[in-house]
Amino acid sequence: MDTVTAIRSRRTIKDFTGAPVARERVERLLELAAWAPTHRLTQPWRFACLDQGGIRRLHDFLKATPEIAAVPDPAKGAAKLAKLGDRLPGLGAMIVVTWVRAADAAVDLEDHAAAAAAVQNLLLAATADGLGTFWSTNPALGHPLTLRFCGVDPAREGFLGAIFLGEAAETPSAPPRVPHSERVRWV
Ligand SMILES: Cc1cc2nc3c(=O)[nH]c(=O)nc-3n(C[C@H](O)[C@H](O)[C@H](O)COP(=O)(O)O)c2cc1C
Repeated sequence: MDTVTAIRSRRTIKDFTGAPVARERVERLLELAAWAPTHRLTQPWRFACLDQGGIRRLHDFLKATPEIAAVPDPAKGAAKLAKLGDRLPGLGAMIVVTWVRAADAAVDLEDHAAAAAAVQNLLLAATADGLGTFWSTNPALGHPLTLRFCGVDPAREGFLGAIFLGEAAETPSAPPRVPHSERVRWV
């Protein structure tokens, strides 16, 4: 698939078939993610990968940890967690993306941007490989206890999102964008 087609056809997929995604396929996406631009070559992105067994264990952990359902508040947290719980069994793999926090605020902002560029590489590479993706910032997945479950030290790394990967059961039509001319200034 050419780059233009990958950019245009990538969609946030909400329904996955439950088919697994092989570890080698995930590793290939991560190798491509790492070609993102990175100022000072800090390469701040970190990826915690869960196969379907890992996703099942994460799901059990989320259900068994009431502090997680309490964010951002008990009512919203429980609803968001329930929605997440419905979605998890359909995934083929999940990648929790973090970036290593920098003490200097300007460097930290650049490192956050570099990690987001790595995520976009990953999403486009997955699209070109025929995989559906969903970038989720569900608070349950960014909770410090969830990050620890994934082997991440939340004092050192920030949560950028969890990337759901799998075979799309349904591909939605593209949510419309405003004409790009409305977002552009030529100087
Ligand atoms: C940083 C980030 C976080 C996102 N988190 C969520 C999320 O938690 N839940 C959700 O439904 N979509 C989430 N999305 C996906 C957007 O809703 C989606 O990109 C948007 O609707 C446009 O659809 P498209 O990706 O198919 O073009 C997130 C996207 C980004 C960039």
